Amino acid sequence: MAEPSVNPLAEPLPDGIVPAEVIARTEKRWIKMMAAMLLIMLVVVVATGIAGAMHPPSNVEVIDPTTLHLRGEFVESNLGAASEPDGSVTVRLIAQQYEFVPRCVLLPAETPVMFRLTSADVVHGFLLPSTNVNTMVVPGFVAEVRTRFANVGEYAMPCHEFCGLGHHAMWAHVRVVPKDRFANPTAVQRANCE
Ligand code: CUA
Repeated sequence: MAEPSVNPLAEPLPDGIVPAEVIARTEKRWIKMMAAMLLIMLVVVVATGIAGAMHPPSNVEVIDPTTLHLRGEFVESNLGAASEPDGSVTVRLIAQQYEFVPRCVLLPAETPVMFRLTSADVVHGFLLPSTNVNTMVVPGFVAEVRTRFANVGEYAMPCHEFCGLGHHAMWAHVRVVPKDRFANPTAVQRANCE
């Protein structure tokens, strides 16, 4: 009898049919491989879930929602866009039924921007169409998203997570201006685009 070749499907058969025992052997091998892959994926999901303390995606820090507007990072006077020493801009926003505070954010083009958001009440969504910005805003967590605006213009900022009867009216705007026009905005301009 000839030595069995490495690939059973390559074995020449007079009628072109693969023998049943070869099929059974190959299928068993694949079942074992698939079971091993499923097991590995399950272990990864459970391990990363426990290691990440089950935080929602891009919601990395915890915060006490009762402090919003009043004290801490999300105090009223600290909301809106703020320039950082390294030239980047940090935007702090509060999502609440049914508005974002502030309602308009003035930002420079061609600059690294980091959004930090949190919710005062229920789960909201934060989306800037045609950018990479898209996250859930969960009460008790700070969501963080980084982006960079290549073009100047108005960007609509809708809430995309159903949050109650006024959900459809929960909109805000981002106004992206040339870098030099952002250089020295007043506190009012930063928070209201005016
Ligand atoms: Cu907030 Cu929908």
